[in-house]
Amino acid sequence: MTIQPSLAEMLKPREKGLLRFLTCGSVDDGKSTLIGRLLYDSKLIFEDQLATLEKDSRRHGTTGEDIDFALLVDGLEAEREQGITIDVAYRFFSTARRSFIVADTPGHEQYTRNMATGASTADLAVLMIDARKGVLVQTKRHATICSLLGIRHIVVAVNKIDLTGHDRAVFERIVADFTTFAANLGFSSIQPIPMSARYGDNVSARSGNMSWYHGPSLIEHLESVDIESDAARKPFRLAVQWVNRPNLDFRGFAGTIASGSIRPGDTIVVASSGKSSTVTRIVTADGDLDEARAGEAVTLTLADEIDAARGDVFARPAERPEVADQFAAHLIWMAEEAMLPGRSYMMRIGTKFVPATVTGIAHKIDVNTQEKLAARTLVLNEIGVVNVATAVPVAFDPYRDNRETGAFILIDRTTNQTAAAGMIDVALRRATNVHRQAQSVDKAARARLKHQKPAILWFTGLSGSGKSTIANIVEKRLAAVGHHTMLLDGDNMRHGLNKDLGFTDADRVENIRRVGEVAKLFVESGTIVLCSFISPFEAERSLVRGMVEADEFIEVFVDTPLEDCIKRDPKGLYAKALAGQIRNFTGIDSPYERPADAELVIRTAETGSEAAAEAVIKLLRARGHLEGEIEEGL
Ligand code: ADX
Repeated sequence: MTIQPSLAEMLKPREKGLLRFLTCGSVDDGKSTLIGRLLYDSKLIFEDQLATLEKDSRRHGTTGEDIDFALLVDGLEAEREQGITIDVAYRFFSTARRSFIVADTPGHEQYTRNMATGASTADLAVLMIDARKGVLVQTKRHATICSLLGIRHIVVAVNKIDLTGHDRAVFERIVADFTTFAANLGFSSIQPIPMSARYGDNVSARSGNMSWYHGPSLIEHLESVDIESDAARKPFRLAVQWVNRPNLDFRGFAGTIASGSIRPGDTIVVASSGKSSTVTRIVTADGDLDEARAGEAVTLTLADEIDAARGDVFARPAERPEVADQFAAHLIWMAEEAMLPGRSYMMRIGTKFVPATVTGIAHKIDVNTQEKLAARTLVLNEIGVVNVATAVPVAFDPYRDNRETGAFILIDRTTNQTAAAGMIDVALRRATNVHRQAQSVDKAARARLKHQKPAILWFTGLSGSGKSTIANIVEKRLAAVGHHTMLLDGDNMRHGLNKDLGFTDADRVENIRRVGEVAKLFVESGTIVLCSFISPFEAERSLVRGMVEADEFIEVFVDTPLEDCIKRDPKGLYAKALAGQIRNFTGIDSPYERPADAELVIRTAETGSEAAAEAVIKLLRARGHLEGEIEEGL
């Protein structure tokens, strides 16, 4: 394996003299030309730098034991585990006065995602505007995202000014448009520069073609803009990446310092548990340190054996982050698939992975007007303010206080793709002071009384596939021999608990989530609960599976070809759906994701309902759910 200096290593240290920026705009706006020009003018090409860095890393990597190697790759891991497919090229160049890392984000349709990736570590953004086109929706979107991601410095690069005959009025109108739009975005500096990236006007050197412009060239501005790089002055935060225990004598907590600084002798607490200890050593690949600061990858050893694991956050006792399992956040949706409130996503915050759901959408934001709009979902590239609930409490700071500890991503659990970037606004305290109450009669006791092992028999399949018919026969036969059962059926639940729900994707997600909770309660009561729902999405079926013990969920896929369902059409709904009278009908204009790992597949084209029911009961018996049955009755 080659050990390259990881992006994290190159990008993390906020050294004096290093400016990270990104360029936003489409290829047509001249973005690539501009970056090419910057690299060319600075006469330092990224590859050379990379080669040197690579050599350095190799040297450091030879110092010996396991622990050094681990420290070296630490940063690299961090990038990979981010779960972000980085479609952003980072280019490195320098001038006599400063070094620069520019995130070059592609301008195609996935731009929001890539842009957000680049912007999350940038201090400044260069917004490219084609002088002939002026401020576009895309410009506004980019500016909004930059603002959300905490970028405080903007360069409005009015490019291709040569094509307007270096027209001052054009420039001034665009600047006025942008300044008006950006008034409430909270930027601390906006520097407009008229430019021709192609001919180099106002890129490195000032142009002789625009005597009316008295401001700096782009490079001059980038060299001198005052970036308040204060990560080191913020409260100390370190998210534990892994616990390093190469032998019995050494136990260290490895991670990158997100903000603040730390010295041996300082006291730290684990944010979630409040357990504290004293730092004894700060170990790095280059030997022990007297002090470590934001951006550095270190391993801390502590005076006491305290309980801390990957994902935990270290802080100082007097400056702790918040710990909560519900909060309000801004979300930039980046997946092709719409966001579904109630669906379980995987959240990555710091080094912690935790299941999370969006429990509500306060509003979405119109990037053109900054207006708040009502929304039930977020689609690709939309930005919203939402409430998020996590399965366990997480440590964080509001994003406006700390970009490192206030940001998270949501990952689609099926595709493993990053679905959204999030910025935490505030913790929500709704569910505090609610604790689980101990109960004397538990699930096992209830199950014993009923002489059975509880289970969820989950029937999934198209409407009209025969789920309910089969479930009905199974229940009848179980009841006949004294088993305790309950049948939850889609059509029936939708008359009561779920009568507020329709058939949009979002409503179906909520339908199954509620049914899952109800089924779980029946399992707690020791009951064998039969659920008959189309349940078209894999994500929610596995959500319910995860609500109970592994051996308590039995998925029965009633696999009937769509043509057969249409032919049967027991409720006449397919006819209506095909005639366009019912929208979002499963199999017609709404998807059904076939289960891949069902415990039982019933092909109704080959198996009748009675035989199908028999197969289900056989499976229940084989899995030990029917211990008290009277054999001959079945
Ligand atoms: S699910 O998709 O959310 O799991 P559920 O099983 O509760 O659906 O309800 C499905 C039943 O509702 C169908 O059997 C059918 O009788 C009825 N129905 C009415 N409209 C639709 C629709 N658009 N799509 C599917 N089923 C519908």
